[in-house]
Amino acid sequence: MIKKANWIKSPVDVEAAVVKFRRNFCCEKHIEKCIIQISAIGIFNAYINGKRIGNDVLAPGWTSYNRRVQYREYDITDLLASDNIIDIELGRGWAVGSVGCNNPYPYQTEQPLVIANLHILYTDGDEDDLCTDDLWDVYTSKVTFSEIYHGETVDMTASERLLGKAEISDFKTRLIPTVGELILEHERILPCEIIHTPKGELVLDFGQNLTGYVEIKICGERGKKIVLHHAEVLDYDGNFYTENMRSARNENVYILSGENDVFKPGFCFQGFRYVRLTEYPFEEIDPKRFCAVAVYSDMKRTGFFNCGNEKINQLYSNILWGQKSNFLDVPTDCPQRDERLGWTGDAQVFARTAMINYDVKKFFTKWLGDMAEEQGDDGAVSFIIPDCRNTPGEINPSAGWSDAACIIPWELYLAYGDKNLLQEHYPMMKKWVEYLKKESGSEYLWSFGKHFGDWLALDGNPDGYKGITPTYFIASAFFAYSTSILIKAGKVLGEDMFEYEKLYEKILFAFRSKYIKDGKVHLVPDDWKNGDDEPTIETQTAYVLALCFGLCEEKDRTTFAKRLVELIEEKGESNSCGFLGTPYILHALSENGYTDIAYKLLFREEYPSWLYSVNHGATTMWEHWNGIREDGTFWSSDMNSFNHYAYGAVFDWLFGVAVGIKPIKPGYSEVEITPHPLEKMGFSEGSIKTAYGEISAKWYYEDEHICYDIELPEGVAARFTLPGEEVLVLESGKHHFVR
Ligand code: BGC
Repeated sequence: MIKKANWIKSPVDVEAAVVKFRRNFCCEKHIEKCIIQISAIGIFNAYINGKRIGNDVLAPGWTSYNRRVQYREYDITDLLASDNIIDIELGRGWAVGSVGCNNPYPYQTEQPLVIANLHILYTDGDEDDLCTDDLWDVYTSKVTFSEIYHGETVDMTASERLLGKAEISDFKTRLIPTVGELILEHERILPCEIIHTPKGELVLDFGQNLTGYVEIKICGERGKKIVLHHAEVLDYDGNFYTENMRSARNENVYILSGENDVFKPGFCFQGFRYVRLTEYPFEEIDPKRFCAVAVYSDMKRTGFFNCGNEKINQLYSNILWGQKSNFLDVPTDCPQRDERLGWTGDAQVFARTAMINYDVKKFFTKWLGDMAEEQGDDGAVSFIIPDCRNTPGEINPSAGWSDAACIIPWELYLAYGDKNLLQEHYPMMKKWVEYLKKESGSEYLWSFGKHFGDWLALDGNPDGYKGITPTYFIASAFFAYSTSILIKAGKVLGEDMFEYEKLYEKILFAFRSKYIKDGKVHLVPDDWKNGDDEPTIETQTAYVLALCFGLCEEKDRTTFAKRLVELIEEKGESNSCGFLGTPYILHALSENGYTDIAYKLLFREEYPSWLYSVNHGATTMWEHWNGIREDGTFWSSDMNSFNHYAYGAVFDWLFGVAVGIKPIKPGYSEVEITPHPLEKMGFSEGSIKTAYGEISAKWYYEDEHICYDIELPEGVAARFTLPGEEVLVLESGKHHFVR
């Protein structure tokens, strides 16, 4: 239907102001049903006779706009009268403006565009369509400025001015039905404290870092102004801190009408816990007038966890909020500074955790669809999807980032057991491995290109961004890992994987010859210049990846694990890995007989550790282990997000190893339940809603005993292993064991 409509734009470029497209229409006959389909290159909000259409926000979400854009569809039968006015407000959103660190957005049109088709079916069988075309009037709106990073200005005193008739645009893209989740408003949180800072500023604390916006219900003198700024943290002195937002202004300005006003942005969002009332034209502050609204994709909760240690429970809550804050249509690195981008590395390390917490099948399928759209003809995959940072056609893959093309589809298959979905993503996975194969040539090593490496690892310069694990070692490890995943996926789909198995053997051989010597990793630092004596280094991440990706020979496994433990001890019993090592380190330990050390790292409270940020009052995951240092100062202002989910990947260990629930067969039709009780944790319980029903496991201490409760739904069997005992096969139903 929508294909009949035209993309239209304002006849006047109003820059970051929101415009309103309007059309009057009459319905003279009795209406059976009326459906409207709307899309935008930008963000739209639509109204019939002043009533808002739908309850989703920030529509139509973010896709690779120059290739495909979703349309929303709403049944508006109940909103129609005989004389009707349809208004569609249109803002720039992600499509036009500064998204992407102020790089010119390669997909941008000069102005935002909208397209809509209203289809009426009358009771007598007649049908009518009202499409966007050059008969629509375009007006200015009360939203005089809106920008994803910088915020929104709503002027209730602004009059709506006719700009003229809409212009038809020749923009071409593919319109697709909504494949992701709708973006909805979720939790509503009232301020827990009004703070008068030492600088004399007025700040509201909502007690939880989140993504969304503040809604204000207010009545005051016409023309008076409220100005809000957003922050995640206060500084050491208790002052409002916004430097880590970099160029993102996060400023919402509201000008009062003189009547009852309800203010909130309609075309952007903020990442914040604190709000500064930079201007507030009232003597008294009634906190009930302010409400923080969490906004994210409408994914349904599936996983639950609880234990006897309050700090670990807070960590879990921070991980959940990290997911809610960064699953706003696209999996983003962070929701607050001038990035908020679909960084593929962050998404792949967190994917397994995300799939335990929520049903993210649709969410990831949409994003992977964009990844496939943007994949180069040669198979190259970017490190950001939608790729708003690179020039179109110039794709720079990065190891551990671009491998999301193989890792996430496989994780989706393991979590949900959907072969069709795997089939859908398989061509992209194959193209990605083909790309690596071709580029690596006869060397069978990924020793080309630029990489982010073990981003933010602590073994390099503590104030730098990159760890010291050589980037080509990491790249070749991921080449092997992606290839191994492709082989498994191909076999599930009945493909002949013989050639890829041969390729895998060659990669493994090349990897071992170059990077493993005498039962140890053999790494030459990236900055070594030929000529000097060849120095070698060992890093935790190198051992972690070799162990978890199965790259060392079985005979070396014990020494590798032992070396990893030694390196952890050398660092004062701490993890020094970054984005690529940290998600796997606890698994590398527990899979090789060192669950005790894994628990030690998990329970560590000093920097660097997961609980360090919990002890410093974090309510979401931090980008840096020491985003706030021991002395209260900040790590740096240029890369210091307090809402970065990557290190939250530790939850898949808590769930899969501490509680002990892991799928054996994709979709959890057969599971492994191997609990790892620990007195310090008191008890632990976890459950997950699967297509078969809910699977749950719990361990707890009673007198001298440890008790285990397991519940399996119909159709699910478990291989259950108690510490030091043989495997038991459990059928569906309730099971109780005491030891
Ligand atoms: C982002 C990261 C991302 C990284 C690439 C940063 O600016 O915030 O999370 O993965 O760049 O190294």
